[in-house]
Amino acid sequence: MKSESPRVAVLISGRGSNLKALVDGVNSGCLDMQIVRVVSNRNDATGIQHAKAASIPFSLIVQQDYPDREAHDAAIKKILTRDRVHLVVLAGYMRILGENFCTAFAGRMINLHPSLLPLYRGLDTYDRALQAGDRETGASIHFVTAGLDDGPVISQVRIPIDPGDDAKSLSQRLGPLENRLVVATMTLFCRFALKCVPGAVVYNEHILEKPLLMRHDGTFI
Ligand code: GRF
Repeated sequence: MKSESPRVAVLISGRGSNLKALVDGVNSGCLDMQIVRVVSNRNDATGIQHAKAASIPFSLIVQQDYPDREAHDAAIKKILTRDRVHLVVLAGYMRILGENFCTAFAGRMINLHPSLLPLYRGLDTYDRALQAGDRETGASIHFVTAGLDDGPVISQVRIPIDPGDDAKSLSQRLGPLENRLVVATMTLFCRFALKCVPGAVVYNEHILEKPLLMRHDGTFI
């Protein structure tokens, strides 16, 4: 890791498997970036342990401590600005950030979502895919805009839905691939190969017509 490597903040609310994948990616030398801050909105998020184990500065920022959403978002923004964060990764961060925050980090904030966006924004994505009789599901990474799970989609990984699958089995199969997807996608950021323009992703100076599709081995098609 070089001192000029991108400075990244990871926001979490739960398990933190994607945070752990990013930490491992940095420690193994495959991701040339620095995780300079982890923020959680829940003090019971088990992912906090990954930040502590890796000695990453950590902040607990809970809505109840602030009079309104604006004040809460401003508190996060202040910390990330002080930390000179280039890129924000929402890795299972289960709270909607307001328009001012999204504007401040426009083109510099990505979100992980367990569906093949634009399908199934919001919660219960596996159940909704199962109820719809879909033959496949997957995970997406997209630039964040003020809309829920909205914004240009950068990358995806797909898995088939087999007979007998339920939300738990889909989550167990997809989880490790989503971890791989976030590392593979962040590798492209670290090479400065990804940019956001209004409504679209630019990859290697070309507008992406459709999201980059990751093979299960972590390489892009
Ligand atoms: C992931 O499935 C992500 O897509 C969703 O929340 C989950 C977070 O998992 N937004 P983890 O906390 O990184 O293990």
